[in-house]
This record gives sequence, C-alpha cells and structure tokens, in this order.
Amino acid sequence: MPTTQKIACDVKDLDLAAKGKTRIEWADQFMPVLNLIRKRFGEEKPLKGVRISACLHVTTETGNLAITLRDGGADVVVCASNPLSTQDDVAASLVRDFHIPVFAIKGEDKDTYYSHIGSALDHKPQITMDDGADLVTEILSKRQELVSGVMGGTEETTTGVIRLRSMAKGGVLKYPIIAVNDADTKHLFDNRYGTGQSTVDGILRATNLLFAGSRVVVCGYGYCGRGVAMRARGLGAHVTVTETNPTRAIEAVMDGYQVMPMMEAARWGDVFVTVTGNKSIIRGEHFRAMKDGAVVANSGHFNVELDLPAIEAMSISKRRAREFVDEYTLPDKRKIYVLGEGRLINLVAAEGHPAVVMDMSFANQALCVEHLVKHAAELTPKVYPVPPEIDQDVARLKLDSMGVSIDKLTPEQEQYLASWSEGT
Ligand SMILES: NC(=O)c1ccc[n+]([C@@H]2O[C@H](COP(=O)([O-])OP(=O)(O)OC[C@H]3O[C@@H](n4cnc5c(N)ncnc54)[C@H](O)[C@@H]3O)[C@@H](O)[C@H]2O)c1
Repeated sequence: MPTTQKIACDVKDLDLAAKGKTRIEWADQFMPVLNLIRKRFGEEKPLKGVRISACLHVTTETGNLAITLRDGGADVVVCASNPLSTQDDVAASLVRDFHIPVFAIKGEDKDTYYSHIGSALDHKPQITMDDGADLVTEILSKRQELVSGVMGGTEETTTGVIRLRSMAKGGVLKYPIIAVNDADTKHLFDNRYGTGQSTVDGILRATNLLFAGSRVVVCGYGYCGRGVAMRARGLGAHVTVTETNPTRAIEAVMDGYQVMPMMEAARWGDVFVTVTGNKSIIRGEHFRAMKDGAVVANSGHFNVELDLPAIEAMSISKRRAREFVDEYTLPDKRKIYVLGEGRLINLVAAEGHPAVVMDMSFANQALCVEHLVKHAAELTPKVYPVPPEIDQDVARLKLDSMGVSIDKLTPEQEQYLASWSEGT
C-alpha cells in the first residue's frame, strides 16, 4: 500500500479522516447490494488496472463506491461534482485510510472546482464516471488528447443524461456512455425517495422551519419533484406544483396537489423548491411577487434554476442570516431567504440521499463499469441504457437484502404473457 504522503490529493484536512471513516462505515451497513458486489470484485478483480476518474458528490456513499471499484482492481481518483457538496471528512478518509486520491474541498471556488476536475483528468481515465457530465464536457472541450484512451463512461443524473444525449445528437460525443440515471432501480428510488426526503431534510436543517401548515411550492413534477411533494405533504404542508409538461401536471392534480403557473404560485407560497433540471424557473418577477419571509431553495443539478443575478440586482442589501441562508432585502423591506446559494440543498445543508437508496444507484454504477470493461469493443459513441439484466439483478439483490420474497411466473403464465392467441 502506498503511504498517504505519496497519494496525490487536495482535501481540506487529513486529520478529519477518523470521523470520515466512521461515517463511511455507518453508510456501508445500509449498502448490502454494493457490499455483495465488493466481495465478488475483491475475488475476481474484473477492473484490474483500469484507470477510473469519478466526478461525484463526495459523500459517505460515494466513498463506499470508490472502495468497491478499488477492490475490483481499479485505479480510482475522485473529484467533486459540485463545489458545495463535499463531505471533507469523507474526502480525508478516502485518502488516508483507503489510499484513494481525492480532489475536493467543500466551498471551493469555481477555479478550484475546475482545477480539481483537471487533476482527476490528469489520471488519464479509461472510464469516466460523472454526475452532471462535467468530466465528459471538459475532455471534449479542453482535453481531447484523452479521448483515444477512454473506453467509456457512466452518468449518474438526469441533467447529465440530457447533456450527453444532446452531445450524441450533435455528433460531438466521442465515447460510449451508460445512463445509470435511467435504470429503474436508480431513478424510481434515488430521485424520488432519496431526493424527496433529503431535500426536505436540507431545508429543515438550514432553516428549522415547521412544514406543518405551511405552503410549499414544488417546481417540476418529475421523479425528484414527486418525491419532494410527497414528503412535504407528509409533514403537513399544503403543496402546490408548477409544471410545463401537461401530462405531469395532470398527474400532480390527480395525486391531489394544486397546480398553477409560477406567477400565481409565487404569491401563494411560503417555501419554494425547484427540481426541474431547467434554468431560470424562479426569476425577478417571481421574487418580486413573493411574501415577506419567503424561503427559496433548489434541488435540481445546477445552480441555474433560481435567477440569483436577478435577486442580487433587485435587493438593497444581503446578509448571511444562518449557515446556508442568505437574506435578501428588497426595496420595500420585504425579505427573501435563498438557501445554499441556489445549489442542490440536500447535499449542501444535509447529507444527500440516504445510503439505502444510494446502494441501488451505486450497485448500478459498479456493474455498469464492469459491463463497459467487458464490452467496450462492441460499443459506439452513444448514450446506452443500463442493460436490463443489471437493473433486474440489482432489484433482486435489494429485495433479498430486505428479506422480501416475491412470486415467480408459472410456465403457464409465462406462456400466456408471451402469446397473442390466448386470452380470447
Ligand atoms: N438533488 C439531488 O440529489 C438530485 C438527485 C437526482 C436528480 N437531481 C436533479 O434534479 C433535476 C430533476 O430530475 P428529475 O429526475 O426529477 O427530472 P425529470 O425530467 O423527471 O423531471 C423534471 C420535471 O421538470 C419539469 N419542468 C421543466 N421545466 C419546467 C419549468 N419551467 N417549470 C416547471 N416545471 C418544469 C419537466 O416537465 C419535468 O416534469 C435534474 O437536474 C436532476 O439532475 C437532483
């Protein structure tokens, strides 16, 4: 094993490692599927010598994924996929206790963020693992000399998959990507239950508000929005949804929420959460219409869902009211509170998704990396779905770990489902 001194890294403080290690171990006990994969990887070494650069939120769960890849024989480096989401103790422990190079510091500025991505790319990855497509974007725009050495990549989140699909459509994507986000065992659980609970957790930790009886506006009724709305309602909030997609709007109505345009919701709400993956959802005209004391947060991938330049420009003063809470005072003295500088609040003010759901997301990541290594030669520069057998395996293993058994189709039922002539 190399010594800590020889491991390239840029983390806040290596002395935080002991706390990080205990927290990584805590998360590990809730990640039984990843555990099984780690054991097999340890024996079979399917990733032997493969250089992986992982640009992910540096959390306890990511720590366990990085250790799994390392145990599979990979040579892994980790950098942050968001300047505010790093857990500094985890970063320290990965370096000191697990000898994995990490480049990530919570609160790093934009230049440091990109220099950390640069350091992860200096590793000359054969596999890139992204949460928001930053590694792919940097390689294609600034480090094209690396393209020939990359066999493939994976993508963790909706926004990244959208970016990568548009690269593929425009003919600029240069290597195959597996859209881990689109696995059923990822988005149906991680985006819905993970983002749902941890977003509310982040808002509550940042503000100590009471949701019961308050008016919460959820912008976007996709997988994440459904989760946030469901959890806010569970705490007793009155929930309104804004949408641009008519089908999803109907779904929100039939799920029992009010649906209205953003301009109307701006006047109605006490707490606002954007989870659209789109930009400028809450703009100057909306901030201007909000009640005194309105709280505004984002849990979508990028910090562009709230038009922060607009509220900066229209405010007469700004101060830090609490950690992760900026108080903007408008000319008529109304105050608007913006959380976490508009970055995903569940990772900024809370700890991100619980390990129980990340178990499935990261089991998909680990198995998709193995798939890429085995099948790289057959793949072309496209965005591929997660192979259905991987998705099903992850579901089966998760059920086993929960002690839940289910029925099996009988041969007669299988035949019935496969036939067009039966059932008349
Ligand atoms: N915070 C987290 O930890 C976390 C986890 C997973 C995904 N994400 C991110 O959250 C975002 C949403 O992900 P998702 O899986 O729910 O995506 P999704 O595509 O399922 O849902 C997004 C919804 O937003 C709606 N929308 C788009 N523009 C809108 C507008 N102007 N007003 C209102 N609604 C609008 C779309 O119609 C869609 O229904 C993405 O950026 C994704 O990367 C964050």
